Amino acid sequence: MAAFLSSVIAGSALLSAVTAQNFDGGASSDEGFSWVQPKNTTILGEYGHSPAVYPSPNITGVGGWEAALEKAKAWVAQLTLEEKADMVTGQAGPCVGNIVAIPRLNFSGLCLHDGPLAIRVADYTSVFSAGVSAGATWDRAIMYERGVAMAEEFKAKGAHVILGPVAGPLGRSGYAGRNWEGFSSDPYLSGVAMEETINGHQDTGVQATAKHWIGNEQEVQRNPTYDRNITTVKTSNAISSNLDDRTMHELYMWPFANAARAKAASFMCSYQRINGSYGCQNSASQNGLLKTELGFQGYIMSDWGATHSGVASIEAGLDMNMPGGLGTYGMNFGIPSFFGGNITIGVNNGSITRLDDMVIRIMTPYFWLNQDKDYPSVDESSADLNTFSPRSSWTRNYTFTGTKSRDVRGNHAELIRRHGAAGSVLLKNEHKALPLKAPKNIAVFGNDAGDPVTGLLNQADYEFGTLAAGGGSGTGQFSYLFTPLRAIQDRAIQDKAVVQHWLNNTYITTVKDWNNVWLPTVPDVCIVLLKTWAAEGADRKHLSVDYDGDKVVKSVARDCNNTVVVTHSPGINTLDWADHPNVTAILAAHFPGQESGHSLVDVLYGEVNPSGHLPYTIAMNGSDYNAPPTTAINTTGFDDWQSYFDEKLEIDYRYFDAHNITVRYEFGFGLSYTTFNASEIEASPLESNISALPADLPIEQGGNPALWEALYNVTISVSNTGDVAGAAVPQLYVGLPSSAPKGTPIRQLRGFEKVHLEAGETKSVGFELMRRDLSYWDVVRQQWVIPEGEFTFWVGFSSRDLVAEKKVTVVS
Ligand SMILES: *[C@@H]1O[C@H](CO)[C@@H](O)[C@H](O)[C@H]1NC(C)=O
Ligand SMILES: *[C@@H]1O[C@H](CO)[C@@H](O)[C@H](O)[C@H]1NC(C)=O
Ligand SMILES: *[C@@H]1O[C@H](CO)[C@@H](O)[C@H](O)[C@H]1NC(C)=O
Ligand SMILES: *[C@@H]1O[C@H](CO)[C@@H](O)[C@H](O)[C@H]1NC(C)=O
Ligand SMILES: *[C@@H]1O[C@H](CO)[C@@H](O)[C@H](O)[C@H]1NC(C)=O
Ligand SMILES: *[C@@H]1O[C@H](CO)[C@@H](O)[C@H](O)[C@H]1NC(C)=O
Ligand SMILES: *[C@@H]1O[C@H](CO)[C@@H](O)[C@H](O)[C@H]1NC(C)=O
Ligand SMILES: *[C@@H]1O[C@H](CO)[C@@H](O)[C@H](O)[C@H]1NC(C)=O
Ligand SMILES: *[C@@H]1O[C@H](CO)[C@@H](O)[C@H](O)[C@H]1NC(C)=O
Ligand SMILES: *[C@@H]1O[C@H](CO)[C@@H](O)[C@H](O)[C@H]1NC(C)=O
Ligand SMILES: *[C@@H]1O[C@H](CO)[C@@H](O)[C@H](O)[C@H]1NC(C)=O
Ligand SMILES: *[C@@H]1O[C@H](CO)[C@@H](O)[C@H](O)[C@H]1NC(C)=O
Repeated sequence: MAAFLSSVIAGSALLSAVTAQNFDGGASSDEGFSWVQPKNTTILGEYGHSPAVYPSPNITGVGGWEAALEKAKAWVAQLTLEEKADMVTGQAGPCVGNIVAIPRLNFSGLCLHDGPLAIRVADYTSVFSAGVSAGATWDRAIMYERGVAMAEEFKAKGAHVILGPVAGPLGRSGYAGRNWEGFSSDPYLSGVAMEETINGHQDTGVQATAKHWIGNEQEVQRNPTYDRNITTVKTSNAISSNLDDRTMHELYMWPFANAARAKAASFMCSYQRINGSYGCQNSASQNGLLKTELGFQGYIMSDWGATHSGVASIEAGLDMNMPGGLGTYGMNFGIPSFFGGNITIGVNNGSITRLDDMVIRIMTPYFWLNQDKDYPSVDESSADLNTFSPRSSWTRNYTFTGTKSRDVRGNHAELIRRHGAAGSVLLKNEHKALPLKAPKNIAVFGNDAGDPVTGLLNQADYEFGTLAAGGGSGTGQFSYLFTPLRAIQDRAIQDKAVVQHWLNNTYITTVKDWNNVWLPTVPDVCIVLLKTWAAEGADRKHLSVDYDGDKVVKSVARDCNNTVVVTHSPGINTLDWADHPNVTAILAAHFPGQESGHSLVDVLYGEVNPSGHLPYTIAMNGSDYNAPPTTAINTTGFDDWQSYFDEKLEIDYRYFDAHNITVRYEFGFGLSYTTFNASEIEASPLESNISALPADLPIEQGGNPALWEALYNVTISVSNTGDVAGAAVPQLYVGLPSSAPKGTPIRQLRGFEKVHLEAGETKSVGFELMRRDLSYWDVVRQQWVIPEGEFTFWVGFSSRDLVAEKKVTVVS
């Protein structure tokens, strides 16, 4: 198998792991930052100062892990110091991350595998829809079902830990290269998706990893730059994401709080710095926000090569160093781990004091999920496919017991097909262009329609062939890929139709008159398939489509008055031809996974009534978006890569709404083949005497449980007013009273539901608002506070199609 991963990781993770010596037995000197970067020191202190947070809290097992914790403690008590060091340090081996076995305890080790849409380094597996597609479904049941099915494959291949799901990047910038791995730039939608996915994974017995904690909002300079000649010497630090405490809580931490509440076994700390301090040695984010405020009981593992120190990282809360030492690695940098042998030195000289807690945190979710009982063995195919740590790099023995190359796909194709269709968003549909009515003459255009001609490895962009997932560690290894062209042909044959196709975009854009090219009659429908690449390690250079796709549309629409455009994309595309009168329909099909063509045909022909909604905003122009990634600096100072999150809460629709900017398709938008209405909005308190502050309850997993108590029920009647069955997505937006602090967004998503309705049917829908949903983060009180005054509850079918409104005063 080709070395498809090396380019990706070598360009990013591996280089970052070539680290400076920083094993000095003390906390890192770059601790003690403030939440507001001292850009203007006069205003420093506006949100207070966040001191270094030590010591790292011990696991308590709160929230149902008590019995597992006792097992883990008893188990860890049997380990030697060297075995404990092994437990917290990755090794080269068959999986993307490996913790070695301890045969005398019948412990077969831990296998950690990418990633958020498939088990990537394995054969005979499925490629599921990407996170952005799952987000676009706005369907809790699908999110959970997808989480279960993915985990079934990881488990059957012997992987204990899934390196997903993703809530960071959240999507501060539409240009960020990894947004599609996660679900939505809205923290509420992302939080629901995190919770459902993690529940799906862990109900199946596999550990989930919420990543990347936190502020990991761009790819450029996510890692330090190293002197190429002396690879242990940094010439520049990684970018620092500088954000204030309120923004941290209300945007970036929000979905991770859901992950902690769902009892994610693991969190992965991120590459970049947070307010000046590296993510994996940042005591405020790890010891403070995650392990104290959110009551996280599992273990923090480093992103691959994100560990830049030993003791400093450990005392700041890091529990597992991945992938461990790099001297054993394919790249042969010869860099030993900050952990490994250093752990034994550090414990013996007294500088490491929390090794037991680290190992206990790793083993508690293992016992909680019963991974000690009959867990499948690691499939040896991973070893063959692992170009990241090939067999030649291993220093430890691995014993493979089960059958090699086990087919773990089951009947997942059926569900992937459904999920791909459900994650497609119908943006335009004029003259009832869709669903297609058995057209007899179909023309298909675009390099995204047909088979990839250079393999299905999906690790580099390619000109010819459909794109059903992005690249990097978040991709999957396709065992097959059903293309749009093939699925359209299969369907068209049933209708005894003609299908002509042109797959060379360069050629398409040079055609002067299609009437001289296609068969004598004008096609009934011209289907244009466009694609947009995105992958870990780079941010997007533009928000339009790749390979001259805009010109392809214009060329076809010039001569075809029924042009249906389909995009396969990591998210935002600005679609500057959207108002072209001959573009009758636009379908944002995102990254649907291996059943791409089937998912598409199901929507085009109306087997599935589209019900996806945008999990982000499509602006008129790429330049309309604020908060672009920092892609260049003009200075050469060691710490000069800085990204100031000055827009604070104003990302995506919060920004466009605050500044009244016209957008092309707003957050939450999506059409159906039927129409819906909502009416009779009511809002009833579920508690009498709601207090402004939450009760001071003992912290559970997910933080103060009072924040998750339902306080209000907003109900609405939703009707299907059209003539076919379909699914509506009523969305609840909350506007806080004017007493809320400056910078509060005009409205924010705080509820949604997928409602299946027959033609003419009406259903009552309830949105239970939890305390957190009605609060802002008060930086002085360090509390979630419900502001006094009048709230506005809006229910609609997008963030700008608000059909019902209710005003209430929550705190009396
Ligand atoms: C810093 O902020 C203060 C308070 O907002 C303002 O008065 C002052 O002009 C600012 N200084 C600079 C150099 O921007
Ligand atoms: C964690 O537990 C150990 C062992 O009981 C104890 O020595 C240490 O003080 C505890 N740490 C904290 C932060 O409570
Ligand atoms: C390991 O497994 C064997 C066989 O099932 C069993 O006899 C033995 O007691 C186990 N050892 C431990 C330490 O659990
Ligand atoms: C690295 O070594 C090469 C070859 O000796 C030299 O040309 C280059 O300037 C060196 N780079 C740095 C950053 O020292
Ligand atoms: C400890 O870490 C340092 C820094 O990476 C490394 O140079 C050293 O070899 C390590 N020692 C052991 C015993 O692993
Ligand atoms: C690996 O197994 C071989 C054969 O059993 C043995 O000779 C060797 O010492 C083992 N290596 C390690 C690192 O355990
Ligand atoms: C695509 O079309 C252009 C323009 O006609 C042509 O130059 C090029 O060779 C074609 N590419 C392939 C792979 O056929
Ligand atoms: C498109 O053109 C055909 C003739 O080629 C015509 O019959 C049809 O009505 C036109 N459709 C629209 C929507 O204008
Ligand atoms: C739409 O298509 C028709 C052909 O059906 C063409 O005559 C007309 O010019 C096209 N409209 C535009 C705006 O390109
Ligand atoms: C770098 O300098 C150029 C030219 O002066 C300027 O246009 C650009 O905005 C600067 N970039 C940054 C990141 O400061
Ligand atoms: C927003 O823009 C629209 C259209 O330009 C205008 O009618 C409306 O008054 C504006 N609203 C605000 C709050 O500025
Ligand atoms: C909220 O309203 C819905 C719809 O009427 C209802 O099904 C649900 O039980 C209500 N929740 C509570 C806690 O009353």
